[in-house]
Amino acid sequence: MEIIIADHAGFCFGVERAVGLVEETSRKHTGVYTLGPIIHNPQIVRKFAEQGVGVCEDTDNFSNENTVVIRSHGVPKQTYGDLSEKSVNVVDATCPFVKKAQNSAQKLGQGGASVVVYGENNHPEVQSIVSFIDSEYFIVSGEAEANALPFREQYALIAQTTQNSESFDKIAEILKTKCSGLTVSNTICNATNLRQAAAISLAGQVDTMLVIGGKNSGNTTRLYEICKGICPRTMHIETKDELCKELFKDSRKVGITAGASTPGYLVDEVIEFLKEVTNEQD
Ligand code: F3S
Repeated sequence: MEIIIADHAGFCFGVERAVGLVEETSRKHTGVYTLGPIIHNPQIVRKFAEQGVGVCEDTDNFSNENTVVIRSHGVPKQTYGDLSEKSVNVVDATCPFVKKAQNSAQKLGQGGASVVVYGENNHPEVQSIVSFIDSEYFIVSGEAEANALPFREQYALIAQTTQNSESFDKIAEILKTKCSGLTVSNTICNATNLRQAAAISLAGQVDTMLVIGGKNSGNTTRLYEICKGICPRTMHIETKDELCKELFKDSRKVGITAGASTPGYLVDEVIEFLKEVTNEQD
């Protein structure tokens, strides 16, 4: 059985940076918390908990004795004010690409357009992006919701950084029919584009595809959906423990990709497991 790893898979720049900042902060300070899980990967969150880094969902119980790391997804604008009022020491690990989306959202709203954010309604990144919009805004999760939007003079379109570029372009086409003037700012990050393109290419070459990453990770779930559409035998797993040798008895070529929040060691464990299966097949 051949094992092929996607050209771009696993930790992206923004997640690597956020995890590094938590590590550094936990060495330097006590009373360290992340505001929500630092990344959508339960194994990493558990590892930090063992090192004494807590997870808190809101700012209510923080004081000037705490250091709070803002995760890569960003937080609503108001949260910065709440933390500053309590004199909390803040380490901002918001990914620079998310910052860019927040800034675009703010600027486009100030320009008078109704802003359309293509993303998941309840995702923390989307909640942070829309908090920077002072004008009317809509969140759409796909083409059907874009089709249902009312007519407006001016629309501006941006995206959650981990969305699918192809769908983004389709939504832009729909919006052109819904307004007199459309401004498009494609805020999907390069790491997402590269991971999705590599996954599409690999899923077309293999008979079995493994997508590794948190079940709560939006970008991993999108990789899974993309791969499943090309390679019907695609599985979304968090760790090697979800696999058994029996699953690969008819597999000849297995492809592996991983979400932007999946640490390398989880991918390595899956590869080791597959190598064992291969050795037994020979
Ligand atoms: Fe940043 Fe893109 Fe990763 S927005 S956190 S580099 S997936």
